[in-house]
Amino acid sequence: MNDFVRPVRPFAANSGVRVPIGTTGALPDFAKKAVDLELGCGTGMFALGYAQQHVARHLIAIEQTVNKFRTFERAFQKQQLPNLTPVHADGSLWVDRYLPAASIERLFILYPNPYPKKKQLNLRWHYMPAMHSILRALKPGGEILFCTNLKWLVDEAAAQFSGGWGLDLTSVEEVRLGARSSLTLFEKKYLERGEICFDLKLRLPG
Ligand SMILES: C[S@@+](CC[C@H](N)C(=O)[O-])C[C@H]1O[C@@H](n2cnc3c(N)ncnc32)[C@H](O)[C@@H]1O
Repeated sequence: MNDFVRPVRPFAANSGVRVPIGTTGALPDFAKKAVDLELGCGTGMFALGYAQQHVARHLIAIEQTVNKFRTFERAFQKQQLPNLTPVHADGSLWVDRYLPAASIERLFILYPNPYPKKKQLNLRWHYMPAMHSILRALKPGGEILFCTNLKWLVDEAAAQFSGGWGLDLTSVEEVRLGARSSLTLFEKKYLERGEICFDLKLRLPG
């Protein structure tokens, strides 16, 4: 086990914790559709583009910050994409409550908050107890794309997802300005100021 890999306590939602669902749109029929999930979608740049480009798939995109979610929802209302479900909630609670086991084919965690302080470690997605529920919702063979501009974070996430959670590491690639149209607003910001970003791709065995 390397220094990054840690056991993560089982997830248990605190009793009485309310999962806000007021703005949740209709969920897809998981048996009939290929369903993907984005955690922390911000103002929805990736989610809106992805839904337009993948009409045969359905994306559930979750954001907890009120202002960001409102911006996302306004854009969603204008575009009326039937294969996108914006969810205003804490994804770590929502997934446990609403996603059936093995229902998600692709999971996107794009430029998550790094929570760099040691005492914030269990707020990073790969160390969250909620990752138990999130991986339960992923189909065997399901894929994860995790993006960040921080080398230490991509190294840590790669080690924990593979050594701690047992995922197959598919690739880690550097992304530089001009390599592709920016996936998200944060990616755009980082690349335009000359930083290198990282794409970490993983796969749930099976
Ligand atoms: C650094 S921003 C990146 C936003 C977007 N993915 C992008 O790249 O432009 C991280 C986002 O994750 C959201 N977030 C953090 N924890 C979350 C949680 N538990 N559930 C839902 N959203 C969360 C934050 O509110 C924030 O908007």
